[in-house]
Amino acid sequence: MTPEQEIESLSTQLRRWNEAYYQQDAPSVTDAEYDRTLARLRDLESQYPDLRQPDSPTQRVGAAPLDGFSTIEHKLPMLSLDNAFSDDDLIAFNARVEERLGQTNGALRYCCEPKLDGIAVSIIWHRGRLLRAATRGDGYTGEDITLNVKTVPNIPLVLKSGGWPELLEVRGEVYMPRDGFEKLNARARAAGEKTFVNPRNAAAGSLRQLDSRITARRPLALCAYSLGYTEGESPLPEYHSDIMALLGEWGLPISEYARTVTGVDGCIGYYNDMAVRRDGLPFDIDGIVYKIDQLALQQRLGFVSRAPRWAIARKFPAQEESTELIDVDFQVGRTGAITPVARLQPVFVGGVTVSNATLHNADEIDRLGLRLGDQVVVRRAGDVIPQVVSVLIDRRPSDTRAIAFPITCPACGSAVERDEGEAVYRCVGGLVCPAQRKAALRHFVSRKAMDIDGMGDKLIEQLSDLQLITGIADIYQLTADDLMGLERMGEKSVGNLLHAIEASKATTLPRFIYALGIREVGESTARQLAQYFGTLESLMQATPAVLLEVDDVGPVVAEHIHQFFGEVQNISSIDRLRASGVHWPDLTEAVAQDAPLAGQTWVVTGKLEVMGRDEAEATLRALGAKVASSVSGKTHSVVAGPGAGSKLKKAQTLGLEILDEAAFLKLLERLQ
Ligand code: IVH
Repeated sequence: MTPEQEIESLSTQLRRWNEAYYQQDAPSVTDAEYDRTLARLRDLESQYPDLRQPDSPTQRVGAAPLDGFSTIEHKLPMLSLDNAFSDDDLIAFNARVEERLGQTNGALRYCCEPKLDGIAVSIIWHRGRLLRAATRGDGYTGEDITLNVKTVPNIPLVLKSGGWPELLEVRGEVYMPRDGFEKLNARARAAGEKTFVNPRNAAAGSLRQLDSRITARRPLALCAYSLGYTEGESPLPEYHSDIMALLGEWGLPISEYARTVTGVDGCIGYYNDMAVRRDGLPFDIDGIVYKIDQLALQQRLGFVSRAPRWAIARKFPAQEESTELIDVDFQVGRTGAITPVARLQPVFVGGVTVSNATLHNADEIDRLGLRLGDQVVVRRAGDVIPQVVSVLIDRRPSDTRAIAFPITCPACGSAVERDEGEAVYRCVGGLVCPAQRKAALRHFVSRKAMDIDGMGDKLIEQLSDLQLITGIADIYQLTADDLMGLERMGEKSVGNLLHAIEASKATTLPRFIYALGIREVGESTARQLAQYFGTLESLMQATPAVLLEVDDVGPVVAEHIHQFFGEVQNISSIDRLRASGVHWPDLTEAVAQDAPLAGQTWVVTGKLEVMGRDEAEATLRALGAKVASSVSGKTHSVVAGPGAGSKLKKAQTLGLEILDEAAFLKLLERLQ
């Protein structure tokens, strides 16, 4: 390979990994391999500087820390926006604009965009190459954050297509998507480090790092929202919306939610639409920005003090509010984890009234420095559960009290323990603990698990307190007699519930695995496990080493699964459930018809040196084959290693295809 080819191939590889990491959120290499590859590319680039591509992945990873930021003067000031808080405010804004323009027919064209909650940046490309980037600062001078901005994955280092002005300034918001923010905080929490209060603070903190290598590891993104200063010949469109589309063609990330509308009615319609969608968006927005779409009209309207007359921000209800912390309860979950829950003076935040918020764990209480009676900031954004994000120390009353974390389980009195290196305290009571039992039952009947309609929390509470059910398998033993006479249970509701219990017996393997409530096995892991193993039996027999082969499963989860199926009680629950008629379609038959080995039955016998039998069987299943334990006329092929006995003989008698391990591995190579 020539150095040029190697640089090309390393760059392609790194770009693909970056995409998997940042866009698909699915790292496809280890950090070590990534670092080695990057180091090699950096090496080659310093040996052959001429061969360095301007958008090389080496430019994305940050550089050594700066002593401080230098300042950059904005060619055009970076202004702010006036706010509107109601339809009336917006109607008044539109009336002012119409009057100034002498155009009162209600037909002005507005471009409506989500108002992202991040930090404003100005980025300049010179002849299509990213030259400089700055924060807004005081609006006239900002800080030079070029090195940091270059690490943001969706910001093009080189513009696409052509026709850009020689100097192009684009303005936009750098933000942190919600899932990246949640993961960043979860990681910090697990490591006992400080968490960020909200995605905006996290974005600001990440972008203003003197060490851009830190920025590079933060999940940041840009959304461009306007053109800034330009220099040089380049015919530009006459409408803001068309300019945005053009920026999109040049490779800049623009909002997929932006729309043009007519008149103030269109503006209000857009607001209502986005208000409904707000919780489901992948990022925080704090309002809608309305802009007069036609640039000539923008120019005629001009500016007043520091905000344009041609635009306004309509704010959404706040996602953060302050309220009083009245008390802290300690809830015991399905796995014994004890979670402190804040009881709050009810407060309207993020569009709903919130009276409870999670406090995660004991460390979090310490980190926040929280005391009963404190004024706290509560945040509710998207469908994430409300959180207490900070204490307003300045507003601390004189009579606050310390929060005592329980030293025994509040539900059963068992000891409370903390695993080495874990932030969570757990009740060691297991199924002796009524709180854990109830939580396991609630999980088992929940919609994504066995989906037993009508079996609500209140009913589970009564059934377990009366010892009518003590474990999940008891649910299928319930009779009308048991249920009649319980609170709010008449003939009709008893009939409906028994019907729902009966109907839940026909389930699917992924649902059943999920319903078992194995620690850290969520819906998606359950699905992966079902797909990989095909049958519950093979999952139950899997060793941790085999479990690790499954996507989503790391050493900790593998250990939890293995332990779960090692418990006699769990096995007997599963047996009882199946004896009661809980069943699911055979997944091995449902495997995609186009899987390479679909419809074939294989048998593996004897000792396999390279792969091991479990892994061989799992691989066969993943390729669509059914794996049987005995050879019959239905068997398609047999994989036989040393020591194979009667099964091999039978296969020979039947004249079946027999593969030794080497032949089998060769086949797999061809198929995978
Ligand atoms: S236009 C002269 N569009 O909101 C108009 N701003 O409160 C300049 N922002 O500093 C801003 N999303 O950081 C505009 N789609 C959007 C925006 C947006 C967020 C931020 C921006 C600005 C602040 C003003």
